[in-house]
Amino acid sequence: MPLITHSPDLDNALVNPTTWADELGLHRQFEWLRENDPVRWLTPDGFDPFWSITKYSDIKAIAGNKKLFINDPRPTLGPKGLQEMVEAVTGRKHLIRSLVQMDDPDHMAYRRLTQGWFMGQQLRLLQARVDELAKQSVDRLLALGNTCDFVKDVAIWYPLRVIMEILGVPAEDEALMLKLTQELFGSTDPDNQRSFAQEDFLQVVADFDDYFDRLTAARRRQPTDDVASLIANAKFGDDPLPRLEINGYYTIIATAGHDTTSASTAGGLLALMNNPAQMHKLVNNLDSLMPTAIDEMIRWVSPVRHFMRTATQDFPLRNKTISSGESVILWYASGNRDQDIFEAPFDFRVDRQATKHLAFGFGGHVCLGQHLARMEMSALYRELLTRVTDIELAGEPQYIQSTFVGGLKSLPIRYRPK
Ligand code: HEM
Repeated sequence: MPLITHSPDLDNALVNPTTWADELGLHRQFEWLRENDPVRWLTPDGFDPFWSITKYSDIKAIAGNKKLFINDPRPTLGPKGLQEMVEAVTGRKHLIRSLVQMDDPDHMAYRRLTQGWFMGQQLRLLQARVDELAKQSVDRLLALGNTCDFVKDVAIWYPLRVIMEILGVPAEDEALMLKLTQELFGSTDPDNQRSFAQEDFLQVVADFDDYFDRLTAARRRQPTDDVASLIANAKFGDDPLPRLEINGYYTIIATAGHDTTSASTAGGLLALMNNPAQMHKLVNNLDSLMPTAIDEMIRWVSPVRHFMRTATQDFPLRNKTISSGESVILWYASGNRDQDIFEAPFDFRVDRQATKHLAFGFGGHVCLGQHLARMEMSALYRELLTRVTDIELAGEPQYIQSTFVGGLKSLPIRYRPK
């Protein structure tokens, strides 16, 4: 993609899912924006206008101020008229109402319900099972011979299984969950979408709802020790959670919990293959370098391309003013290549201290599953790099066309057992 420096082409390119399948071109574009117009008013065709935020410190300042910048009514990029269409079809304001659509006090109350599951002691209890699933994933890779598509054969299935076990979705329903997630997140990719019709998008949510209504009924009849039982039986005072919020909760966990992690895992492997000296360094220092390598992979990939916020008051930023009621888009992938923060940001370094990256967001909505994601990726890489060697690219990698959650959709590799 050639560098674009003028409107409306630049504005339209940034919201065009095909741009996001050209990682290098996109990063060049963001580099230009960081240097020349870090707080830029965009007016792309078919979208309500918004501010584009590309510098690390600006993203952090906005995401860190939950009062001044709220998530509702525009947490992510959607075409003009979507909101009205949802209201006309469903008779309610939200199609989905999950943590990312909420602001305080609801956000805090709902987040508290499950956050214990994703940190500390509870997470440590999951370690043995995660290790087991990582082992099975590498068994599967080796059983496939000397070549596979690392995304389609390994990376998507492993985090999917982990999160579905935590949520309480049985293995036989995983394929359905994967399909629905890809249709929801990657609805703009020709391989993932049902069609371009917005009605089809509504139908994806209706399919999630159907499935999750049955899950709630089952867990109310007979609670188990999974997160679905916790959500289905939770009460605020004497009241159970409303259906919209219950299904929103399942949906955010079921979707945010795997596509992101698989994209980081696959993108991390591509970065290692493209940087053999870094691969060598990691393989020879697995224990000491694993934590930094995993965060570097997540910084490098930044699979969640953006979230949005809306200002509740005027907010001066650099030489502009974001007025109350205006929305901003936080381009995490751009912040994570900001040279004011990361030395040589376009170098992939397994020993970089990259934990301050913004790939998990920042502030009150910071990723609930960040520790789980790191645990899963470390377990898989430990298993992979101790049992498999000479991993190299065996074909052209392909990227998902999505402005929301993206990354590789195909990564052909060649390898041999150690
Ligand atoms: C490498 C993998 C992952 C990445 C890059 C990632 C990224 C993100 C980002 C950028 C946000 C929004 C933060 C913000 O608005 O400030 C988020 C929120 C969230 N993530 Fe993740 N995520 C990952 C894995 C997971 C996993 C494994 C789970 C499993 C439960 C998860 C669950 C959530 C939830 C529930 C939220 C909403 C939090 C809130 O609004 O309070 N994520 N994630």
